[in-house]
Amino acid sequence: MPAPNRENFGSTFTFIMATAGSAIGLGNIWRFPFMAGEYGGGAFIVAYVICSLFLALPCFLCESLIGRRARHGVYGAFKQLAPGSKWKYMGALTVFSSFILVSFYAVVGGWSLDFLFRAVCGGLTSGGTEGALSVFPRMASSPWESVLMGVAFLAMTAFIVLGGIKKGIERFTKIMIPLLFVLMLALVVFSVSLPGAGEGVRYLVKPDMSRLGPRGWAFALGQSFFSMSLGVGTILVYSSFMKKEHSLMKVGVWTTVSDTAFALIAGFAIMPAVFSAGIAPEAGPSLVYETLPYIFARMSEGAPVLGYLVTVAFFLAILMAALTSSISICEVCVEHAVEQFGSKRLVATMEFLVPTALLSVPCALSFGLLGNFKILGLTVFDFCDNLTSNYLMTLGALAFALFVGWKMKKADVREEFISGGSPGFSEKAFKVFYFLVRWVVPPVIIVIFISNLFLK
Ligand code: ALA
Repeated sequence: MPAPNRENFGSTFTFIMATAGSAIGLGNIWRFPFMAGEYGGGAFIVAYVICSLFLALPCFLCESLIGRRARHGVYGAFKQLAPGSKWKYMGALTVFSSFILVSFYAVVGGWSLDFLFRAVCGGLTSGGTEGALSVFPRMASSPWESVLMGVAFLAMTAFIVLGGIKKGIERFTKIMIPLLFVLMLALVVFSVSLPGAGEGVRYLVKPDMSRLGPRGWAFALGQSFFSMSLGVGTILVYSSFMKKEHSLMKVGVWTTVSDTAFALIAGFAIMPAVFSAGIAPEAGPSLVYETLPYIFARMSEGAPVLGYLVTVAFFLAILMAALTSSISICEVCVEHAVEQFGSKRLVATMEFLVPTALLSVPCALSFGLLGNFKILGLTVFDFCDNLTSNYLMTLGALAFALFVGWKMKKADVREEFISGGSPGFSEKAFKVFYFLVRWVVPPVIIVIFISNLFLK
């Protein structure tokens, strides 16, 4: 039976804000620009948008449908909807994935925290553009700074999670997402006006599909799942708190559109400045954190006070966006421990905090001390990122789609899908959704996944 006393999100708007808060984060602002930089700019954007609309959106709907139907955490949801089957182990895998995800995510969250401190102290904008370009290398060469900041970021995540769904999450997201949106738009305007920025704009709007290849498609797929927080149980757990009168479709479409828009805006805020500053677009995970100080230093040249205020507001907003994502991922693990092992919320949060903090240490040191320590040719950070984004999240999302398309009864899927939606439209949308989830989404994900493994 569904858990009867589950706390609910107040309104559809609040729920959209929470899922958008989970989705919009470092994935859009930090990961998307560097992925686009590595995989051909415009070509990557084309692949990413296709994957977001035709694969990630249906997978989002599958995950939220399972969550609301079962009203349990990931493991409990599979036990509830497929009793006695092995599906519950898939739930356990997603808990594991979310643990790895948070561990390396915390490192980048820690960079944001670090940059916020530097911004407040004026250290990001006072050294001119020369100084700005050396901020990231200096931070990375001081290993314990990154470690400390990553752990501090995790501690902040745990602190918010302890506040519970309503108090902790709703309050944050309603303010931060719109603020970040406005700041990002302002950054686009400034970035494209920099000298030499035109080349960066061309890099994004002129797709050269030959640069993509099977790996580029797989990474675009992984990026769309990463960005929408799919395949790790986050959306499932949030949806387990969703009322029947809210429309899954509405939430899914709004989350996908806002998340994709944010990523594109971040791309246009960062890439023109990358070219203007002469940074290599293929610089990898450090790209955005090398470029942002340059943008803010340029901004401060003409208007120091405005530059200072925008810099502080921007890093505060990024930090909040990162936190609203990390709390949603952390919630998967905490929910699991509370529901399956009867742990108290405080204990469950600590059980999550300690191992993630431990794993975050070698991830943070990957940019300095442990730069030469490789697993399958990748630093610990890149290994965790690659494993989660391109394998575990893809497998998780595929499992949710297969479960909805092939395991659940069609009548149950239909009932859940149309619940809360406008009657005529929901029925039509359901037909398209059900077709995609059975015949398009799983085979396409499998083909992309396998071609990434065997074709380079
Ligand atoms: N969806 C989260 C983000 O994009 C993980 O940051």
